[in-house]
Amino acid sequence: MRYSLNRLVSMLAPCLCFTCVAAPLAMLAQTSTYSNVGRTPSDAEIRAWDIAISLDGKELPPGSGSAKEGAAIYGKKCVACHGAALEGTKLGPALVGGKGSLSTPQARRTIGSYWPFATSLWDYINRAMPHNQEGSLSPSEVYAVTAFLLFKNDIVKESEVIDAKSLPKIQMPNRNGFIPQRVEEIPDAKKRGCRLGTCP
Ligand code: HEC
Repeated sequence: MRYSLNRLVSMLAPCLCFTCVAAPLAMLAQTSTYSNVGRTPSDAEIRAWDIAISLDGKELPPGSGSAKEGAAIYGKKCVACHGAALEGTKLGPALVGGKGSLSTPQARRTIGSYWPFATSLWDYINRAMPHNQEGSLSPSEVYAVTAFLLFKNDIVKESEVIDAKSLPKIQMPNRNGFIPQRVEEIPDAKKRGCRLGTCP
């Protein structure tokens, strides 16, 4: 096949265009300062977005709550989708049950059977529940409803008050059911000849 000069130019044009125009522009954009475009977000605005809670719970806010208070909140704001006995409905999954089912073909993953950290439960409710009204609960309401769910899964007592200090200390039933991501986290890893993902 023969290429005419015209055709060659038209084929190369996008590349030339990028090299001659787009690339220098991109370099310019990196070095120049924009004026009148956007603004630096305020500390309060950044805080409003920056809500992630680490597994060790170090970002947990002040506030506290117990299962007793949480029951009332659950009855108003969660029951419609998760059911009166936390058994789940068409609108939302079960929040109890499934203990001992993970190694069976009918594995049921719930807070009690599956979740390894109580801090991620707090984070999840805080960022995502109630579904369609996310972010509407105060920190103390999140502590209370978290306590209620933990109580219903036999993990804490009904009267236990949960806050930023006590929540990270809660041992979830399936805490050790996951393969650690780092070999160093496996007890006696060297002796047992563990490698990432496999541990005989
Ligand atoms: C309008 C329905 C609705 C309401 C109200 C609602 N949820 Fe949910 N919830 C859902 C749905 C749907 C999911 C599953 C979301 C997904 O998997 O992406 C879910 C998931 C969850 C989970 C994770 C369960 C798991 O094991 O994966 C928790 C915990 C939870 N909700 C707690 C609450 C709490 C606490 C409230 C009340 C404060 C609440 N939800 C209110 C619909 C709802």
